[in-house]
Amino acid sequence: MKIINVVGARPNFMKIAPIIEAMNQYPDKIEHLLVHTGQHYDAQMSKAFFDDLGIPKPDIDLGVGSGTHAEQTARIMVEFEKVCLKEKPDLVIVVGDVNSTMACTITAKKLNIKVAHVEAGLRSRDMTMPEEINRLCTDVLCDYLFTTDHFANENLKAEGVPEEKIFFVGNVMIDTLLKHKEMAKTLSLMNHWDLTPKRYATMTLHRPSNVDDRVTLQGILEALTEISRKIPILFPIHPRTRNRVKDFGLEHYFSNGKKVKGIWTTEPLGYLEFLHLNMNAKMVLTDSGGLQEETTVLGIPCITLRENTERPITCEVGTNAIVGNNKDKILFAAQKVLQSDNYQAKIPEKWDGKAAERIVAVIAGF
Ligand code: UD1
Repeated sequence: MKIINVVGARPNFMKIAPIIEAMNQYPDKIEHLLVHTGQHYDAQMSKAFFDDLGIPKPDIDLGVGSGTHAEQTARIMVEFEKVCLKEKPDLVIVVGDVNSTMACTITAKKLNIKVAHVEAGLRSRDMTMPEEINRLCTDVLCDYLFTTDHFANENLKAEGVPEEKIFFVGNVMIDTLLKHKEMAKTLSLMNHWDLTPKRYATMTLHRPSNVDDRVTLQGILEALTEISRKIPILFPIHPRTRNRVKDFGLEHYFSNGKKVKGIWTTEPLGYLEFLHLNMNAKMVLTDSGGLQEETTVLGIPCITLRENTERPITCEVGTNAIVGNNKDKILFAAQKVLQSDNYQAKIPEKWDGKAAERIVAVIAGF
């Protein structure tokens, strides 16, 4: 069976890594190629993850780069169609919910190629979120839907997806986390930022709904400033956010590397570095999807600066609190975490490091 694995943006890399590793256990049955669309292209957004996670160099790099949604999606489709026509795969595997996920799904399906979606069925029900559109389009087209939790299974069934297309396998992102946890533990990064374990917070922010509007972004930075009076905040800053901070003239909110209490920004960090920093943090503030899951497994309180989540399991059994982007609500949630030492969390079913093995066992059985 010839399979094309697709990646495009940062959150895809840690999901594809264990799948490739599991496929290598079936050399007689599976021939696989890795296609990188090039949606993310900065070394710190892409190559750093290949190095940290030991992902083989992509066989094909489409090099599409940034653009508007239509431009980026269209460029990926044009270039990926050429790859599909040349390679004639039996199956394309897409992961997550980025533009590359949807663009490659549509392209392959129009060529009558079977497509499998890893991390299917997640729904925020928020159609202003580009990822929600990507998730819906991808799932409605895919032949095989690999899910992470019971909410995803229920969402797909409610949308009329036949049960035989749904495979509840667990979470590949957690496969990668569990594999690298011990390695990340051995790093020593605390001194570099003058941090003390459990006495600092980490922060990530990149959603258009949080960073593309000046008033919203300023409100969030004000909340962070208040929190940073009690606990320092380390903020590896996404290129989109860095650009907006500059456009809106908000750089004065940051300590700019000075070793004083406050908000310290850095370039985006590698996988192992950021895992090390998160596992030692008192709390994580974020608008990322994946971090909500990673903090649940690490048992670190997560304050999510969004109005909704496509990952409600992290609130049901995990450490996640959905607080939105209102300054007072962020402060209230952070205060609650700072006053408590006792975080009870469970690990969702099948988030056990074996999701990729299950996925590839299903595929090898086709
Ligand atoms: C994308 C995904 C989002 C995911 C996020 C993780 C979509 C719709 N969004 O958002 O789901 O959570 O990745 O990071 O697919 N840029 C660079 N260098 C890069 C990549 C981007 O400078 O390597 C800048 C460019 O100015 C670009 C902007 O960041 O226009 C946004 O990049 P884009 O890939 O469009 O979306 P993200 O915000 O990264």
